[in-house]
Amino acid sequence: MNTDAVPPIPQTGLDEEPALPENYPSHHTRDLEIKGHQVRFRPIHPGDNHRMVMLFDTFSMETIYHRFFSYVRMPPERVKRFTHVDYALQMALVAEEERHGQQHIMGVARYAREKDNPAQGEMAIVVGDRWQGRGIGTELLKYLFEVAEKEGVAMLYGLVHFDNRAAPRIIRKSGIKFKKKDNGTEWRFEVFPGQTQEPEAG
Ligand SMILES: CC(C)(COP(=O)(O)OP(=O)(O)OC[C@H]1O[C@@H](n2cnc3c(N)ncnc32)[C@H](O)[C@@H]1OP(=O)(O)O)[C@@H](O)C(=O)NCCC(=O)NCCS
Repeated sequence: MNTDAVPPIPQTGLDEEPALPENYPSHHTRDLEIKGHQVRFRPIHPGDNHRMVMLFDTFSMETIYHRFFSYVRMPPERVKRFTHVDYALQMALVAEEERHGQQHIMGVARYAREKDNPAQGEMAIVVGDRWQGRGIGTELLKYLFEVAEKEGVAMLYGLVHFDNRAAPRIIRKSGIKFKKKDNGTEWRFEVFPGQTQEPEAG
């Protein structure tokens, strides 16, 4: 695949929206270099609608299935649910790169707190296929755990298909303490932001 080609702006049926809400947590923005590539991690915002559609267009069927557990599509209402975040209850961090003067979202990691117990919540992560295997998922997940800790989240859980090899790998590589449970149809990972993994025996 020629990853240098400039993709056209998609016709999404989504209006341009004002970029930054008043309570946008810009202090959770971080620039870093991952394997020679400049990457920005930042909270998602309503101005990301088109970038999210473009990210979704890069997903293989396997990526969609591993992330959403079914072969979903991304209609405008659904895109908006992803980009309109109540930052007090949820966090969604994008990994972004600049190419040919355009910002491209390469991946998204998010958590949503439980209403009854906001110290814990559900998490999910996805990286577009063309960017997988470059260390972005590992760094983005680590950063999600760091932000979660700062925001007072003590435990995040996420479901992972039994045949998903990459997700357990990046959770382990995050260095953060986790538990893995077999719930019959998939793995349930519980991760404890702020707590580090015990060194492995041997
Ligand atoms: C999981 C995911 C986010 C990882 O993103 P990524 O940017 O490719 O992650 P990284 O490059 O940081 O690391 C991937 C690791 O998985 C390993 N891996 C990938 N596919 C693998 C496979 N089939 N078997 C074994 N290991 C595999 C890679 O070798 C790498 O480990 P290493 O650095 O020790 O070699 C990405 O694969 C994805 O979006 N998958 C679909 C969505 C998903 O599964 N989400 C989790 C449930 S919500």
